[in-house]
Amino acid sequence: MSTVDPIRWQDGALQLLDQRLLPHTTTYVRCGSADAVADAIAAMVVRGAPAIGISAAYGMALAAREARLPGTSDAAEWHAALRAPRARLAASRPTAVNLFWALARVDEAVDQVCDQKGDIAAALEALAIQLHREDIAINQRLGDIGARLIEPGSTVYTHCNAGALATGGYGTALGVIRSAWRDGSLRGVYAGETRPWLQGARLTAWELMQEQIPVTLCTEGAAGSVLRDHDVRWVIVGADRVAANGDVANKIGTYNLAVLARHHGLRFMAAVPTSSFDLGIASGAEIPIEQRGAEEITHSQGQAVAPDQCAVTNPAFDVTPAALVDVIVTEYGVIENPTTAAIREHFQRHVH
Ligand code: MRU
Repeated sequence: MSTVDPIRWQDGALQLLDQRLLPHTTTYVRCGSADAVADAIAAMVVRGAPAIGISAAYGMALAAREARLPGTSDAAEWHAALRAPRARLAASRPTAVNLFWALARVDEAVDQVCDQKGDIAAALEALAIQLHREDIAINQRLGDIGARLIEPGSTVYTHCNAGALATGGYGTALGVIRSAWRDGSLRGVYAGETRPWLQGARLTAWELMQEQIPVTLCTEGAAGSVLRDHDVRWVIVGADRVAANGDVANKIGTYNLAVLARHHGLRFMAAVPTSSFDLGIASGAEIPIEQRGAEEITHSQGQAVAPDQCAVTNPAFDVTPAALVDVIVTEYGVIENPTTAAIREHFQRHVH
């Protein structure tokens, strides 16, 4: 079980572990409203696709409580009352599809509970708690399935943080790594530092060290020589959104790693719960890629490191084409060499 607890629902409020301050400070930010949750997502207090989705669900539970519409079971009235907080949450970060998946689950719940003349605020709180719990169980299943692919004695490379911190708990890529470590098949992990937010250095290295899983941190510039010279067998990453054809959007730099993995004959695994698929888009070309502020690159710890007025591009994510992905592991099984047909078949068989 993971020892990291990034999202807590306590006394009717959301407590988010402030991931901007890790690993040296462990502080929770209290969010008592949907707006506060949207601000926390936008500011990266909480990050990682599943964790963003779960937080948004709690945000909608807070919005329903704030809406003060007890006594009405009119779905149109409820949707109207929830429209503004829903829009604020939807605008917080664009790439992780789990955010929109969670909001769609809330919309459905509002309709159902209104039909049954139930208590919307209580139902949305219960839904958020359920999505949170389910995510942990899903990651444990996904982790165990992915770990079966890891040959004994393997060293693997991971990027960003797709761990307990990025999810309800246990993690996706780090779920596979946790399970492989438990099974005795993992020798160690290389973690790329992941500029500019350093999720690899601050979060992944910390998370793995909490559990005594051997981790070696490297710069992203070192990835090529590490993959070539250090007996790495797998690159294992998470995803913010997977298109119907298997193109994978994940933290910027993932695409580079997939090219390097293919060049060096290593295998590339995306560990992705089905809630991170967007079957409504044909390919990764349609995935909205978040552009973040220039100062994330021009400045370091508040100090300018680039010339004034330097032009900057700062995409937070990139798209790895399906052709470079060897396997996608979901909570239901393994999709080898993902294609539109293989993904459709996986969903038809397992997701109803
Ligand atoms: O900008 P972030 O930190 O939210 O980016 C997170 C990632 O890219 C993760 O790899 C992805 O969300 C998968 S988390 C299981």
